[in-house]
Amino acid sequence: MSEKREGPAIETSGLVKVFGDNRAVDGIDLTVPTGTVYGVLGPNGAGKTTAVKMLATLLRPDGGEARVFGHDVAREADAVRSRVSLTGQYASVDEDLTGTENLVLLARLLGHHKSAAYTRAEQLLEAFGLTDAAARQVKNYSGGMRRRIDIAASILNTPDLLFLDEPTTGLDPRSRNQVWDIVRAVVAQGTTVLLTTQYLDEADQLASRIAVIDKGKVIAEGTKGELKASVGAGAVHLRLRESSQRAEAEALLTRTLDAQVQLEPDPLALTARVGAGDNGLGAAEQASRALGELARSGIVVDTFSLGQPSLDEVFLALTDRTAGTTSDHGTDSGADAASGTHTKEAAV
Ligand SMILES: Nc1ncnc2c1ncn2[C@@H]1O[C@H](COP(=O)(O)OP(=O)(O)OP(=O)(O)O)[C@@H](O)[C@H]1O
Ligand SMILES: [Mg+2]
Repeated sequence: MSEKREGPAIETSGLVKVFGDNRAVDGIDLTVPTGTVYGVLGPNGAGKTTAVKMLATLLRPDGGEARVFGHDVAREADAVRSRVSLTGQYASVDEDLTGTENLVLLARLLGHHKSAAYTRAEQLLEAFGLTDAAARQVKNYSGGMRRRIDIAASILNTPDLLFLDEPTTGLDPRSRNQVWDIVRAVVAQGTTVLLTTQYLDEADQLASRIAVIDKGKVIAEGTKGELKASVGAGAVHLRLRESSQRAEAEALLTRTLDAQVQLEPDPLALTARVGAGDNGLGAAEQASRALGELARSGIVVDTFSLGQPSLDEVFLALTDRTAGTTSDHGTDSGADAASGTHTKEAAV
């Protein structure tokens, strides 16, 4: 128990997994502090499940190192396994058994005596809102119930580190909220959670720090605030009166805001990302200065709004950046790890 607080829950350096000529995980450096939810965010095929499987000792790394509570995942797999639990992307409970039977069976396999196994199963079914479904075969559960029983199965023994691989994919909003509550409850009991997700709002809701991965590489890492700030302080959405003035507005905004300006499908609309304030001005001040410039140039703005960047915008901006760099053997991998956020910049 005492080792739990000693160091980070997970530390990887240059972690690699290759399938044929596909570098599914291509040199990942991560540090996951204990006692928090750490989000690993990435699109389909980014390498999330592969990375989790290596950390949970289900796949052997082809390069680099990974330590879980200080134990090397390749050389000290047993020590790692004794501290972790995994809820996979695809449910692993037995469909033909009831909720109770599944949990009792797994609890017995973990060494609980019969009465203790029943008690624990009952507790978890109650906590996860599955008491009414306890005697039903799992194949008759809804998707949300399946995910909940699956997570329940992985915390029969409270693990020090829980991997949740896309715990809410395919769930309706209500079921997602239930799973989120469960994750919060698990963390409140002292378990560290590594959560993979494709959903930005999920990472936003649950995670303290987030690593964004794409094509097997970490393209950004930091707190939510740091990630948002790395993309800019906000986005100005404008709608002009005359579409003929859009090109001029685009040029002017690019110049005044020193920002990326995007033309929207609506021929009257454009969006400019306002920088994080290199010039010492807040987003609102910068935006109002830009509006002033537009007015002086005779460009009529019909509607205007200033929004905070969402994690969606962060994600799109980051993945756009890497899409722009075709041969991308950047030198950033972890070199700047001490500075909080380190985002990979395309050649500027
Ligand atoms: N056992 C395997 N054999 C060959 N290729 C694999 C294997 N497992 C994964 N891959 C490939 O590795 C890459 C990363 O896959 P992975 O499952 O880790 O992605 P993911 O981020 O979990 O995606 P998703 O969000 O769809 O679950 C993909 O290109 C995938 O096709
Ligand atoms: Mg996956």
